[in-house]
Amino acid sequence: MHLYRLVHGSEAREIRYDGKVVHLLKAQILGMGHAYPERILDNKELEQMVDTSHEWIVERTGILERRIADKHTKSSDLSFIAAEMALERSGITAEQLDLIIVGTASPDMPFPSTACIIQDRLGAVNAGAFDLEAGCTGFVYSLTVAEKFLLTPAYRYVLVVGVDLCSKFTDYTDRNTCVIFGDGAGAAVLGKGDSGPGIIESYLGAEGSGGKHLYMPAGGSAMPASHETVDQRLHYIKMDGNEIFRFATKIMVKISERLLSSSGLEYKDVDLLIPHQANIRIIRTAMKRMNIPVEKTVINVQQFGNMSAACIPVGLSMADQEGRLKPGDLVLMVAFGAGLTYGGVLLRWGRD
Ligand code: UT7
Repeated sequence: MHLYRLVHGSEAREIRYDGKVVHLLKAQILGMGHAYPERILDNKELEQMVDTSHEWIVERTGILERRIADKHTKSSDLSFIAAEMALERSGITAEQLDLIIVGTASPDMPFPSTACIIQDRLGAVNAGAFDLEAGCTGFVYSLTVAEKFLLTPAYRYVLVVGVDLCSKFTDYTDRNTCVIFGDGAGAAVLGKGDSGPGIIESYLGAEGSGGKHLYMPAGGSAMPASHETVDQRLHYIKMDGNEIFRFATKIMVKISERLLSSSGLEYKDVDLLIPHQANIRIIRTAMKRMNIPVEKTVINVQQFGNMSAACIPVGLSMADQEGRLKPGDLVLMVAFGAGLTYGGVLLRWGRD
């Protein structure tokens, strides 16, 4: 009988197999890409739409402007641009992809999946494809699932996309939500590495009892679309901002502590924190509790608002493009969102 035992507290990812220490493979990010719409919706324009003010929005959220897709642009369009950029930067062709996972809560349509639409557009003829719905935590969930595939022999290259076009489901008469959300897409091509750079640890969680705090009531099997659902504006995002705020500030630290402690690392080891970009006050609270300074944190909520599942991959891709990352850097990504879901990924930047 063979005995396996994971050796915790080490980022080398070792297992004991029949008493011997064996190094496991790691999933590495080979290339990143991102995309966002050209159209800017600033706070002054929102002042004309709902009872709000630039000052209130900046003070309570930190957001100055957000990007909004035009009526012809779909989630698959931004995903495709981000994916092409990630493929180019990774040096991998679309035909080499074994799998495509798209984390989104705003697919082009209920089915087929946005992942299948992208698979066709990219010409990724050898890839399986599926969508994964975890709200704003969609990219972190998808990255974690991709990692598990990459630790098996059959999967060599996986494309992960985080995309949301929240503007398509935002009620621009509801000041509680319309000042927050924006549109975007980020993509990562992942491959296998040895025990150097790559994903060290990931952690996924859910608190389904909190689902009522952030949801879209109609359009699913519980409440199919009808004249009534449209008249009652039930195809829009409904949110209890205060509940999400409380949840977020608590959970970001919990995720980070768990990831670091199970890897034998500390906050001072983190080179770049990429938090979900929901509200500057949530980000600042998390930074303070973790004692991570602003120069080690990606903050783009001012320019993009909350792009949901796209926040983290857009932040990572832009940080890479801006030269904020060097091989060996410890990157901590933490997110929360509808579900309620939460999760994080800890990785060493770079590739073999
Ligand atoms: O990705 C996950 C999704 N969502 C989030 O993470 C959201 C997390 N929550 C938040 O970011 C904040 O709770 C909000 C930005 C949504 C709201 O900020 P807040 O400081 O929690 O405001 P509040 O809801 O406690 O409302 C305070 C006041 C209320 O007026 P009264 O009752 O005190 O007279 C609101 O009606 O501010 C009012 N208010 C606004 N005023 C001007 C709410 N929205 C607006 C607005 N402009 N857009």
